[in-house]
Amino acid sequence: MWGGRFAAGPSAIMREINASIPFDKRLWKQDIAASCAHVAMLAACDIVSDADAQAIIAGLEKIADEYARDGVPENWDLEDIHMTTEARLAELIGPAAGRLHTARSRNDQVATDFRLWVRDTMDALLQGLAGLQRALVARAEEHAGSIMPGFTHLQTAQPVTLGHHLMAYYEMVSRDVARFAEARARLNQCPLGSAALAGTGFPIDRDMTAQALGFAAPTANSLDAVSDRDFALDFLAAASQCALHLSRLAEEFVIWASQPFGFVRMPDTLSTGSSIMPQKKNPDAAELVRGHTGRIVGCQMALMMTMKGLPLAYSKDMQDDKPPVFEAADLLALCIAAMTGMVEGADFRTERMRQAAELGYATATDLADWLVRAADIPFREAHHITGAAVKLAESKGIALDALSLEDLQAIDARIDDRVYAALSVEASVAARHSYGGTAPDQVRARIAEAKARLEIE
Ligand code: ARG
Repeated sequence: MWGGRFAAGPSAIMREINASIPFDKRLWKQDIAASCAHVAMLAACDIVSDADAQAIIAGLEKIADEYARDGVPENWDLEDIHMTTEARLAELIGPAAGRLHTARSRNDQVATDFRLWVRDTMDALLQGLAGLQRALVARAEEHAGSIMPGFTHLQTAQPVTLGHHLMAYYEMVSRDVARFAEARARLNQCPLGSAALAGTGFPIDRDMTAQALGFAAPTANSLDAVSDRDFALDFLAAASQCALHLSRLAEEFVIWASQPFGFVRMPDTLSTGSSIMPQKKNPDAAELVRGHTGRIVGCQMALMMTMKGLPLAYSKDMQDDKPPVFEAADLLALCIAAMTGMVEGADFRTERMRQAAELGYATATDLADWLVRAADIPFREAHHITGAAVKLAESKGIALDALSLEDLQAIDARIDDRVYAALSVEASVAARHSYGGTAPDQVRARIAEAKARLEIE
């Protein structure tokens, strides 16, 4: 494709280090779509004849069929998907194939193809995230009143509901959806027609190609258009953040599924056994989501490092933009699917959760709050009195509400028997009905809003 000024061909090492076809063949659909849009525009602008354009488009369609049927051939001499396709086009239709590359360079071509690929991928991931949101909301609704211990420092803090806990992840995933949608909107400008770096002297119509490929507009600066990979970095940043959320949820499942917790039985379909310990059922899928998150964040770092020192405009370093994006996209799709399956299939052991919520003096704050409300004691003092009650209960090895009224009044005479109503875990969660709190009526209200947003019955 470029041998005119060379006396010798590339060495084997040059061919190997230069070849991106092993990975960029994944862009073939986008490459063909962009070429069809480009040549249709060239014909409309009288830069190539209608007959040549029709032959080129028919040839590209045939190549698409071949790729779909047989895969993309990998010939390192042809370097990348762009030259592989153009070489095949020449075989199929002869010299007219050479007109396709008029007013275009591989620099704007690859920038366009890659944007299209990232856009398609984000659309698919957004579908996956909507499925995860639906699963979270459905299980949250089922468990809007199921009581479990809430933790800080992984120490029992206050009772919450499982529905509330799951809806926390719904909120995180909603922000991930927004991040991908914002990245998509920023990405949606078309580099095609920027040519190598400076634009072209041919009378092209960039609005026409932008529109044909579903972009909102053509990019405004040809130098920026061929050297910008922000869209890929935006994608990787959103993917990293999303993976972080999935990893935290995965970690909850790992903890909850452990025997001392016993809060959940993992679905068999997302667990594995041990080859030596017959009793084992390991949460491997959750652990791998946790592990894959490290790799996804690594992909973001990799591309940031690739880009950080590059002058304008295109440099070949940028060919390395694709592997981390492909890897992160594949891993994230798997992680979303695994976590959706886990949420859908988890067998929550609500009785265990409730018992755990009753341990660890989870309603101590309720005693302090009661002292403030019923006896008008300043909160700091109430906190101190409650601490003494917890200490006494602990020394007796009993729950807070198992202390006798005598014992409680010995600590502070202002306590009376109405206090017991405040000390149950049910009373504790029901009391937390501030907006966004864990009270079941609050959780149900947030679920109703989420369902309306997701357009669920
Ligand atoms: N395979 C190249 C890439 O992925 C295509 C662009 C090549 N452009 C160039 N000036 N060598 O970046």
